[in-house]
Amino acid sequence: MHKVIFDTDPGVDDALALLYLHKHPQVELLAVTTVFGNAAVESTTHNALYLKQAWGLEAPVARGASGPLQPDAEPEAWPVHIHGDNGLGNHPVPEQLEVAVDPRPAHQLIIDLVRANPGQVTLLAVGRMTNLALALRDAPDIAALVRSVVIMGGAFHVNGNITPAAEANIWGDALAADLVFTASWPVIAIGLDVTTQVEMDRHGLDALAHAGGADADLVRALSQDYVDFYLQAGHKGMVVHDCCACIALTRPELFQFEQASVRVATDGVARGMTIPKPAGMAFGPSLWDGQAMQSIAIGVDAKAVLADIEKTL
Ligand code: BDR
Ligand code: CA
Repeated sequence: MHKVIFDTDPGVDDALALLYLHKHPQVELLAVTTVFGNAAVESTTHNALYLKQAWGLEAPVARGASGPLQPDAEPEAWPVHIHGDNGLGNHPVPEQLEVAVDPRPAHQLIIDLVRANPGQVTLLAVGRMTNLALALRDAPDIAALVRSVVIMGGAFHVNGNITPAAEANIWGDALAADLVFTASWPVIAIGLDVTTQVEMDRHGLDALAHAGGADADLVRALSQDYVDFYLQAGHKGMVVHDCCACIALTRPELFQFEQASVRVATDGVARGMTIPKPAGMAFGPSLWDGQAMQSIAIGVDAKAVLADIEKTL
């Protein structure tokens, strides 16, 4: 059984990932923690609560960071709003909900749950990594207590999606990402190298809704503009970035990994660039020296990943 804290910025693909975790028999969802990113944290938190209500999740939802560790790092306006103005593809989300947010800040809930379940918790982070960095700052002991950290983020041997160098989750808080990659805990990074190969078209969404009933039908409904965006960008369907990270946890055999220490550029034109130094590469002294080796996904069986999503939902 995987005890999971899902750190997220719902987010259309985040919503699919959350439903996947909720439905998976080997996953125990301990908490949902929210962060700014696909929309402001007020919206991503409201969206997470909406999904909790719609799907009957028992896990608490705690609100997290509203901005990056480096205050000037995130420009005020996003160039493209692929998740709609409200973060859920402009799907109508009621203002009044019957479920309430947990009173603790997200990073405190992470600390509490990791300490209460030593060696058992997986932090599954599919937005900016600010909450994880804040948890590490306040409680460095958790690095030795988590089971693993699985992230959706990075562009290791491919171009970024927010700049030529950077993937959105890393670019949006590059300093937090560098702290997460260089902490002494095992990170499994699922970046654009693999996620962009996992495309779900409208037939796939229909099949999902057919197999998963009303819960999956909600995912289909809020994904419509997101699918259009990816089709117009030349993809075969919507890229299900965040769900790939979930499946890297439940079905790691569907991915190929390389081991490398990773640093993140935190400033300048390359801000958010994830730079791996593979084992055995010899350079002079460098900023990678002494850093933990992490697992970076470099290959994926996309067909099997899509089949697993349908089966799980
Ligand atoms: C990541 O950015 C967001 O748009 C998605 O939810 C995903 O987590 C992909 O770069
Ligand atoms: Ca996300």
